[in-house]
Amino acid sequence: MNNFVFVLFGGNGDLAWKKIHPSLAKLLKEGKISPKKIISCSRESSKDEFIPKIKSLFGEEYASVCDYINVDVTNPKDFNFIKSIEKDEIIFYLSIPPNLFESAIKNIGHVLLDMTNKRKIVIEKPFGYDLESAKRLNNLLHTFFLEKEIYRIDHFLGKEAVQNIFSFRFANYIFEGIWNKNFIDHVQISALEDIGIEGRSAYYDKFGAFKDMIQNHLTQMATFIAMEPPCCIDAEEIRNEKVKVLKSIEPPSMENVVLGRYEGYTMEPGVKPDSKTETYAAVKLYIDNLRWHGVPFYLRTGKKLKTKATQIVIVLKKMPTSFAKLIGCEPKENKIVIKIAPITNIELRLEIRAPNSDFLSCPLEVSMGMENNTSSEAYETLLLDIINSNQTLFLREDEVELAWALYQPLLDIWKEKKDVELYEVGSYGPKSADMLINKDNRQWYIF
Ligand code: BG6
Repeated sequence: MNNFVFVLFGGNGDLAWKKIHPSLAKLLKEGKISPKKIISCSRESSKDEFIPKIKSLFGEEYASVCDYINVDVTNPKDFNFIKSIEKDEIIFYLSIPPNLFESAIKNIGHVLLDMTNKRKIVIEKPFGYDLESAKRLNNLLHTFFLEKEIYRIDHFLGKEAVQNIFSFRFANYIFEGIWNKNFIDHVQISALEDIGIEGRSAYYDKFGAFKDMIQNHLTQMATFIAMEPPCCIDAEEIRNEKVKVLKSIEPPSMENVVLGRYEGYTMEPGVKPDSKTETYAAVKLYIDNLRWHGVPFYLRTGKKLKTKATQIVIVLKKMPTSFAKLIGCEPKENKIVIKIAPITNIELRLEIRAPNSDFLSCPLEVSMGMENNTSSEAYETLLLDIINSNQTLFLREDEVELAWALYQPLLDIWKEKKDVELYEVGSYGPKSADMLINKDNRQWYIF
């Protein structure tokens, strides 16, 4: 099948141990991949330490294809080992801190200039920290790689439940008729987390909730909800439709954004006491096209909140009140709820009337047959797609730049002034986030 050499920079890092090695080991065990070698590169460990750890965690079979090399990604000489890879395809995976991406790409690129092997490069998020840095990274990648060789990861797109948005919308005729401004009042996309920054202060304090989640994962989910059906199931056609959505979103103004920080954040190890970083962000977006004109998309995310819940709630318009007057009680709006985590299913929330009673909101559930779609499963999907050269679930150059361009006016304002409201640990976030939606006579939902 696929004879390739997988070179994992950051092979001894947190993401590698938690997601990449377990996923590769599982794919190998299931016979879905046949790598010639998986070479982990890092500065801190040694082969004598690394391989036994791999063996004890993932078994003999996976360990037998693993190798380990000490590499300092800023040192061009440390990349010479690549020259000894003979004819096989090489997949380079950058699971390293973002400030090292440029060195790694240059050093890999220079070695590859003298080689004819097929190659791919995979880049973890964050892809840049603003529009300019994302463009710079794209230009550098294109110095050495073709777009069809570049895989920019957004692991949310590997989640089965997120891909299911696509099947749910385009394989069920009943929804197409209502999937527009005539029937949908608004859309809510929430990624609430009960965990904090989990020792990631070096990264998180520089990025914050807006760049960590809204700019990528949540905006990507919005494009899945809003896109037009592609003319065929093809990576380019699907990404073309997502790009059209991104081009139609109006850059949000300051009054449509809320930032928050949980109490005690500045006391977290590694966080500056005068940090301006937000751990919560909410934004209201409008997609100015024929399908969505006037329909707000509310996006919110935060850490140390009451619960973990990744959900999309599509709220349909209210029924005319004349009917409610006639029967003496008022139905709520119908809702389509796409639950991504921790529960994974789709609910159609209908209004029915119990005998001699008010309306009841009654969920009609469609289970996707998954208890909890973990991000490890997302990594398995994405790794298999990379190996099989399917770019559908990876961000294209224009997609990633448009997603930064959309928020660049806000990022420019925040360089001068950033208002961040404190919220209580274990709450649903800052009060202004409720105001953002309440002032439109709407409310946040979590089901
Ligand atoms: C990552 C963010 O991309 O996604 C984290 O950097 C966040 O801050 C994580 O916790 C959430 O992903 P999941 O799959 O665990 O919901």
